[in-house]
Order: sequence, then C-alpha cells, then structure tokens
Amino acid sequence: MTVDRSGGSGVPPAVIYTDPLRYESERRAVFAREWTAVGTASQVATPGAFLSVWVAGYPLVVVNDAGTLRAFQNVCRHRAGPLVDEASGTCGRFVCRYHGWAYALDGWLTSARDFGAEVDPSRFSLTPASVAAWRGLLFVSPDPAEPDLGAWLGPIARHSTHFPMETFEVTHRSSHDMEANWKVYAENYQEGYHIPLVHPGLHRQIDSSRYEVATDGPVTVHRAPTRNGAVTEGAWLWRFPGMALNLYPSGLCLESYWPLGPTSTRVEYTFCFAPGTPATEAEASVASSVAILDEDRAICEAVQRNLASGMARPGVLSPRHEAGVALVQSLVAAALGGG
Ligand code: FES
Ligand SMILES: [Fe+2]
Repeated sequence: MTVDRSGGSGVPPAVIYTDPLRYESERRAVFAREWTAVGTASQVATPGAFLSVWVAGYPLVVVNDAGTLRAFQNVCRHRAGPLVDEASGTCGRFVCRYHGWAYALDGWLTSARDFGAEVDPSRFSLTPASVAAWRGLLFVSPDPAEPDLGAWLGPIARHSTHFPMETFEVTHRSSHDMEANWKVYAENYQEGYHIPLVHPGLHRQIDSSRYEVATDGPVTVHRAPTRNGAVTEGAWLWRFPGMALNLYPSGLCLESYWPLGPTSTRVEYTFCFAPGTPATEAEASVASSVAILDEDRAICEAVQRNLASGMARPGVLSPRHEAGVALVQSLVAAALGGG
C-alpha cells in the first residue's frame, strides 16, 4: 500500500532542496539550534588543546581551558578575523592573526593592540557557543544556551548503555563531501528501501526486506536481520538533524553530517575500536562503511541533479519503508515553524 501525497502535505516540492533562501532558513532554524557531533573529547583532552570546525556555515572553536571545555564563535570581535586557522592545535591564548587582538581561553579580551584604554574589554569578549561531551563523543552548537546534551540524546543514551564506548579508541577519521542538499542525504539515510538496488554488497549481508526504522521523537532506531541468521549485536541510532551512531561490542562508527551550502553536504566519520582489535578487522570495517557511503553519495548526487532540473514533481512515500523520510520532513517543517 502507498499513500499518495502528491497533492497535499508529505513529499515537499523540489525547490526546498535547491533554494539558497530555504537553506539560510534551515541553517538558522535547525543547525544553529541543535547539537552537532564533531568528534571525540580525546581531541581536546589536554589544557590548551583546541579544535575548530565550520558547522553548517558557522565557524566555531572548542578549547580546553585548564580542564574546562569552552566553545566560541571563531570570530574576532575587532573586525571578524579568525581566532585560529588550523583545524586543531594547542595554544595558551587566542591571538587574531589580522591585527593581533588577544583573548584568554575563557574568551576575555586581554589585549587590543595599540588601542590603549580606548577599548573596554568587558564589551569585547568572544561570543560563546555551546560544547559538551557524552561518553567520549564531543558536541558543539552555535547556540550559547543549548539545552542539556543528555536530554537532547534522549533514547540514544538508553540504547547505548550496554556498549563500553569509553574504552574504545579512535583509529580512523574521514571527511566526505557530496553535491546534494543535506535533506537528500538525511532522507536517504532513513530508509532501507533502496538497499537492494544501491548497496548490493550490504544486501548480500542483511535481509533488507525486513529492514525496520522505528521512530522515537527526533531519534530513529534501525534494525535488519543478517542473512545468515546471526544475532545482530549492534545498535544503529540516528538523531535529527545529522548524527548517526552505529554501536557494536567491539567498536563504534560516529557519522555526522551538515550542509556546506544549499546543494552540498559534508559527512564526517569517526571510527573507534576496542583496544586489541586487529588492524585488518578495523580497516575492513572502515572500508565497508566508506564503500556504502560512496554508493549513497552517487545516488544522492543523481537525485540532486534531477531536483535541480525543474522537472521533478512531488512523489509518494511508502508507509512500509519510508516513515523515517516523513519524519525528517516533519522535523524540518516543525523547526521552520510550519508544524
Ligand atoms: S580582526 Fe582580529 S584583530 Fe582585527
Ligand atoms: Fe544507503
């Protein structure tokens, strides 16, 4: 059975996947207000260690200030120079490379070069953002008043209880860009309907006809039995708008994605494994994930080209397979105030 939504709500028009104004609205309504996973807390474990990242067009820097994690906009208060250019490093203070204003790691302006007393430091502290760690994973948000990360994760915390995440070690990271709107990729992630056609290798391993996506608020839990009848010991978890966490007894794959622009998306992978995991096993797991991503990227980019052509008309969603797609669409609409 299918539900024809072409004449009403449900499948949105192609323009929402291409329009720069729509992208700006989503950037502010979604990514400026949500947590984004950017890696692991081990990346900023030592005093002075920093990490800079652009999330959905927002430049942010996370720093370890004598044991306290802080996040700021990576934007100097003088005339918008970058505080740090490198993706990561260690520093004792932030010194803007444009004109040399300097800030303590708590964001306080300590030196406005050649200004003397004309600048009141209390008016020019760095603009704060939010940062939090959960079980070794690191999250940021442009919103300085982001709600509690544990509450945001919701059922993900419950589903991950039995996995010893803190004992895993980061072994691989990779970054992948695709020419597709972030929602094309988010929606693709939410259904197993395409697996037999797009992922023949995965299709040989799992019974994709029994692929299930259970929704729980802004979280989905994915399940699919293996073909050999083995017990699936993993948990495949997703949280709106752009986090996927695949957990196994011997490791995890954190996937985080966000828009680079109206029609481009970045996907970042962090792979962690239990100490002692053979390198060949870890490398095979990483290669498998990246191969699946490459297959998804190819189909998402093809869909994006058709959406941009002006010839794509709204279609229909399968209640059996595509409830997760409808969830993405409804969460975006709700964030934009459309109910
Ligand atoms: S923009 Fe940073 S010191 Fe001028
Ligand atoms: Fe896929």
